[in-house]
Amino acid sequence: MLSTAINPFFKVVIAGVEFSFPIFNASGPLCTSEEELHNLAESKSGAIVTKSCTLNYRQGNALPRYSYNENGFFSVNSTGLANLGWLEYLDIVERLSSTTDKPIIVSIAGMNMADNLTIIRGFQEQGLASLLEINLSCPNIAGKMEVAFELDTLPESLEQIMALKKTIPMGIKLPYYPSRLMLERVARILEAAQVDFISTTNSLTGLDLNPIDGKSSIKPNNGIGGCGGNILPFALGQVAQFSQHFGGKIPIIGVGGIRNGEDVIRYFRAGASGVQLGTHFMENGPGVFEDLHQQVLDFRDLHHPQYKSILNYQNTISDPAE
Ligand code: DHB
Repeated sequence: MLSTAINPFFKVVIAGVEFSFPIFNASGPLCTSEEELHNLAESKSGAIVTKSCTLNYRQGNALPRYSYNENGFFSVNSTGLANLGWLEYLDIVERLSSTTDKPIIVSIAGMNMADNLTIIRGFQEQGLASLLEINLSCPNIAGKMEVAFELDTLPESLEQIMALKKTIPMGIKLPYYPSRLMLERVARILEAAQVDFISTTNSLTGLDLNPIDGKSSIKPNNGIGGCGGNILPFALGQVAQFSQHFGGKIPIIGVGGIRNGEDVIRYFRAGASGVQLGTHFMENGPGVFEDLHQQVLDFRDLHHPQYKSILNYQNTISDPAE
C-alpha cells in the first residue's frame, strides 16, 4: 500500500507529548501480542496503545468473548483482561521504543489498587513509555466494581496513583457516567488530583442476542459485556461535559464509535485533543488510520479550507439557534 506522509495539519500535543497524528487505537482490540503492537507501529496509527495489563499473565474469559453486529455497528466484548502480564509489556516497550518515534501508551488495569501501584511504579522507573493510561473502568472482572465508580474512594486512589509520577504523564480511562451531576463530581476529583489527561469512554455494558434462538452473542457473564461501536453520541457527550468542566486544563482523548473523518471532527469539536478507535479498528484492521487521515483532510478541504490545524475545530460546539 502506498502510504502518504502525515500532514502537519494533524500535529497536537497531549500532556506534553507530541503526536504527529492524533488518531490511534483504543486499548483492547489487536494490541495484546508483540506482533500486534508491531503492526500498530508499522501502521499510520498516531500512537501505540497496549492492551490493559495486569500483574500476571491472564488467559481471559471463555470463547466466544467478542462479537460484532454488522447491522447495528456495535460490538460486545468480555475478554476478561487477557494479556501477557506487565513484565512482558515492559520488555516490549523497551524494544518498541528503539524502533518507533510514535508515542507508546501503556494501559494498566491491575486487579486491585496494590497491583496498579506496582505496575505503575515499574513503568515509571523504566521511563520509556510516553504516557500511562490507568484503566479504572474495566467492566469485566467478576465481582469487582470499577474504581472510577467508587466516588468516595476515588480521590484517595488517584492520589496514590499520581504520587508515583516521575517522568511519564498519567491519565485515567473512564467509564460512561450516565448522570450529569455525577460526571461533574468526577471532573472536580480529577482536577484536584491533577491527572495529566483522561480517555473517555470505555465500553457501555450491554447484551446482544439472536432473536430466533435467544443465544447471546458472547459466552461470559450470560452474554453481558462491554459494547463499543454505536456509542458515539454517548461518548461524545462525555467529552463535551468534561471539556466544559475542565476549561482546557486537562486534555481529553475521545473514544467511542468513530468510523469516519466526520466522526473525528465531531470529537474535536466536543473538546477532544485526540481520538482512539476500538470497534472500527477491530473490524477493519490497521488500514483504518490511513483512511481517516484522508477523510479528515477531504472534510477540511471541502468545508474549512482555511484551517491549518485540526485544533481549529477544538471546542467549537455552537448553538443551533444561532
Ligand atoms: C476488558 C474490557 C474492558 O472494557 C476494559 O476496560 C479492560 C478489559 C476485558 O474484558 O479484557
